[in-house]
Amino acid sequence: MNLQILPPAASQIPTQDPPAEDPLDLMEEIDALKKEKDATILAHFYVDGDIQDIADFTGDSLKLARDATRVSTSTIVFAGVHFMGESAKIMNPQKKVLIPDLHAGCSLADSCPPDQLAAFQQQLRENGRNFHTVAYINTSAAVKSLVDWIVTSGNAREIIDRVPADKEILFVPDQHLGRYLMEVTGRRMILWPGACMVHEVFSIQDLIRIRRQNPGCLVMAHPECPQNILEISDVVGGTEKMRQFVIQRQQPTTFLVATEATMIHPLQKAAPQHTFIPVPGILASSGETCACNRCPHMARNTLQKIRDCLKTGGPEILWQDYFSKAREVLDRSLLQ
Ligand code: 13P
Ligand code: SF4
Repeated sequence: MNLQILPPAASQIPTQDPPAEDPLDLMEEIDALKKEKDATILAHFYVDGDIQDIADFTGDSLKLARDATRVSTSTIVFAGVHFMGESAKIMNPQKKVLIPDLHAGCSLADSCPPDQLAAFQQQLRENGRNFHTVAYINTSAAVKSLVDWIVTSGNAREIIDRVPADKEILFVPDQHLGRYLMEVTGRRMILWPGACMVHEVFSIQDLIRIRRQNPGCLVMAHPECPQNILEISDVVGGTEKMRQFVIQRQQPTTFLVATEATMIHPLQKAAPQHTFIPVPGILASSGETCACNRCPHMARNTLQKIRDCLKTGGPEILWQDYFSKAREVLDRSLLQ
């Protein structure tokens, strides 16, 4: 198998940012380049607000994967992380798919290397276990090519209901999402021990303190958070579910948001009647609160890099042989 190797995690690579340029100039330049290069920009809710504001499509992982199939231009620029760009390419083999920074990875995707998954599946088979593998979309394309189903936070329940009742479920890579799905679907699962570096470090003490300081507030949490956070949350859901919830609630409310901090941007834009407070992260080593509620991978996307990738035509996600198998699984899981 010829694997496309993802470069080392963002935190391990020294960065040297180019001098800042005026965001308005960059936006104008991007707009002109989009027309010149026949390109469409897709942006996840976790990238900077400025990027979301100039994107043609914004959304959660599920919506963006579907939007990618509706793009009519010859080029897609995916402002998100590497596995999202890969999924866009898999769904659009004929299109040029660019990502602004090739080092924008994902700690969850990294926690499940394809060779380790294949070895574990083989071990289960040898032990006579009859199972389907269900993967969260936050996985590499090589992993997607080894599984039966792909879920996102937006469709997980529905897909798990499609797994035949006589099959066991091996769920990869997010143990917290898997545990939550066991609870809501009633299905027992074998859980891969992966976790997201952002959602795993919310401070339960700070959350309880801020909740006490804001009587009447509601706590919203992404299902990638550990059980102790979900237990005290009023709303548990992926990013699009959060957005829909705040839009539907007319009564001005204070929401404490336990997900990547940039999510406040689309929430505030969609429902300005509310107040949104990001839940702080905490450093396990020192117990101090930190800015670790920002995903360092998503933060690698900048207006400058979007302009540059449009200008130079790279970095590009290139088609790999295992994308065909991943495409069958993505198609069955997200489009049918
Ligand atoms: P959503 O699919 O809910 O947008 O989540 C994506 C993600 O990376 C969460 O960390
Ligand atoms: Fe991956 Fe977590 Fe970043 Fe989402 S927030 S892209 S799961 S590292």
